[in-house]
Amino acid sequence: MDLRLGVGGPPTSAEKAAVDAVLGDPESSWLGGERTAAGGHIARGGHSARAQRHLLLPALQAVQASSGWVTPGALDYVCTRLTIPPAEAYGVAAFYSLLRTEPAATTVVHVCDDIACRCQGAEALCAEMEKRFGPPSEPGDTRAVSWVRSPCLGRCEQGSAALIQRAGQSPEMLSIAPASVAKIEHALGNGNGSKPLLDPTSPVRTDPAHRRLLRQVDVANPGSLSSYRAHGGYQMLRRALDMGPQGIIREIKEANLLGRGGAAFPTGLKWESVANNPVRPHYFICNADESEPGTFKDRVLIERDPFGVVEALTIAGYATGAERGYIYIRGEYPEAAERLCEAIEQARTQGLLGASIMGSEFHFDIELHRGAGAYIAGEETALFNSIEGHRPEPRNKPPFPTQAGLFAKPTGVNNVETLANVLEILRIGGAAFAELGTPTSTGTRLFCVSGCVERPGLYELEFGATLGELIAMAGGVSGGRPLQTVLLGGAAGSFVGPAALGTPLTFESVRAIGATLGSGVVLVLDDTIDVTDILRRIAQFFRDESCGQCVPCRVGTVRQEELLARMISRRPLGSPERELALLMDIGGVMRDASICGLGQTAAAAVQSAVSLGLIGGPSDGDRVAQQ
Ligand SMILES: Cc1cc2nc3c(=O)[nH]c(=O)nc-3n(C[C@H](O)[C@H](O)[C@H](O)COP(=O)(O)O)c2cc1C
Ligand code: SF4
Ligand code: FES
Repeated sequence: MDLRLGVGGPPTSAEKAAVDAVLGDPESSWLGGERTAAGGHIARGGHSARAQRHLLLPALQAVQASSGWVTPGALDYVCTRLTIPPAEAYGVAAFYSLLRTEPAATTVVHVCDDIACRCQGAEALCAEMEKRFGPPSEPGDTRAVSWVRSPCLGRCEQGSAALIQRAGQSPEMLSIAPASVAKIEHALGNGNGSKPLLDPTSPVRTDPAHRRLLRQVDVANPGSLSSYRAHGGYQMLRRALDMGPQGIIREIKEANLLGRGGAAFPTGLKWESVANNPVRPHYFICNADESEPGTFKDRVLIERDPFGVVEALTIAGYATGAERGYIYIRGEYPEAAERLCEAIEQARTQGLLGASIMGSEFHFDIELHRGAGAYIAGEETALFNSIEGHRPEPRNKPPFPTQAGLFAKPTGVNNVETLANVLEILRIGGAAFAELGTPTSTGTRLFCVSGCVERPGLYELEFGATLGELIAMAGGVSGGRPLQTVLLGGAAGSFVGPAALGTPLTFESVRAIGATLGSGVVLVLDDTIDVTDILRRIAQFFRDESCGQCVPCRVGTVRQEELLARMISRRPLGSPERELALLMDIGGVMRDASICGLGQTAAAAVQSAVSLGLIGGPSDGDRVAQQ
């Protein structure tokens, strides 16, 4: 693509309308409008147009939805409107997997072939897709319908998942889970207006009497604010307004709540740091990017209790003195995003968002931002860049987000599940909350159980239950087969063996065995699963998702994948022992020298598998050859 203004030709009228729907009508010919006498010869609007940079991603998404790809003409028009150099906007568009920068089919089916779905036959589904629709799409493929393999779509408990992305006059995104070729064909045949093909049964497996974070799930109607309020919704915001910001932060600190997004940072400290920062304005972000393979807890919370997310974020905003809140949701969650849109709208109409919330002097509103397919955008500083309209590349820290985050202002970021805890803390009080679990892992935790278990799904457990107890609650290993290993914490987590079944699922106990709870993933693998194959998928995931900004991660993730491929095909460079040593070496460099958590953890699963002796044995190649 020639990346200069004016060479892309004009946008189509549909593309122009799609962009104008996001940016508003252009004010002058300098910004892509009609040339009028009033326009004169003076360039105007540059500063105000650049202040709209945060609309770049929504504008590109609108073009993608209209044309099926970001055409040169449309890119040109967006750049003129926002006064952004085309090379920069192209760099943003090219980053995201749900945006395409080459001609593409108007309908693309994304089929998950990631770790949990692999255990349930994802390869067989991909083979059937190939039979029915031909080979997976390559750039420039303009068949009417094409398909691509996808990383985890966040529906791992279903065993298989697909996402239909359809462009045109009535664009749509549609999830299908469990997925099959027949269901996908049915959805494609239905055309616009079809409903998501999702299993209506609740993925929550915990008995209602033991639910705290999932209290409203399957109880209140997720589409109705009055139903939410009838079941106690918004009582905690009322209580919070009565307690005042300092009172809330005191309770959160007393509860000893640690973040559930992966890093386990103390939430009370984070809130206090934002609240005490004299720089204004403050922002608060709910991180709903949930793209860690094997994770689906935030999706369940949002789809089934969207008002809870909105209420908790409003309380976070109040406690930290934030004027504006953001929810950043991954682009692959269209149904959850829709739910949040409705919830925000209903909350606004009832004075629960906007000016003078519940008659108080607190003014706060929430913007919903949809991602476009990038795991790294969940890293908090990359997320700021994504909202601001830049490539979602992590920033160096310090400065920390509480000092200079979104738009360089003090910003709090919490995971969806962390925020769900806030409602429970205000309900029972910080001290009572701290009594739950263990002294250093307080409260309850959501576990995303998938793979070879009888009852995959979402489990809420008080910290302290053991891994073995959780697997037993999930009905044990499917068909009573022997347990081979469990991947704890997601692709960025670690494998543990059957010896770890007695380990309490707390931050400290899991850390003591060299693993992590991460995003709450518990992927159970029985003795039939080829761990090497799962590892290769993990390595491929990190290779694809590395933003490429720093060398250890950009090169290390590629080398790691190549090395695994050599081991699987039994073509080691030198001896297998030398390859294993090299693998550990690469992992060490990535861990120690990468800028962000992606590179620092990209080798964790591989290294744990080596330590457990799950790879490097003589049978690896045989198992793959038998597939
Ligand atoms: C590569 C990468 C991806 C991440 N993705 C997410 C995510 O999808 N959701 C999330 O809450 N945190 C994610 N995080 C962690 C965030 O950077 C941040 O620590 C978290 O949102 C803070 O919330 P918490 O304190 O409530 O855990 C990710 C971190 C890294 C390094
Ligand atoms: S570690 Fe990887 S993902 Fe993180 S900044 Fe470096 S290249 Fe990007
Ligand atoms: S939806 Fe397939 S692995 Fe998560």
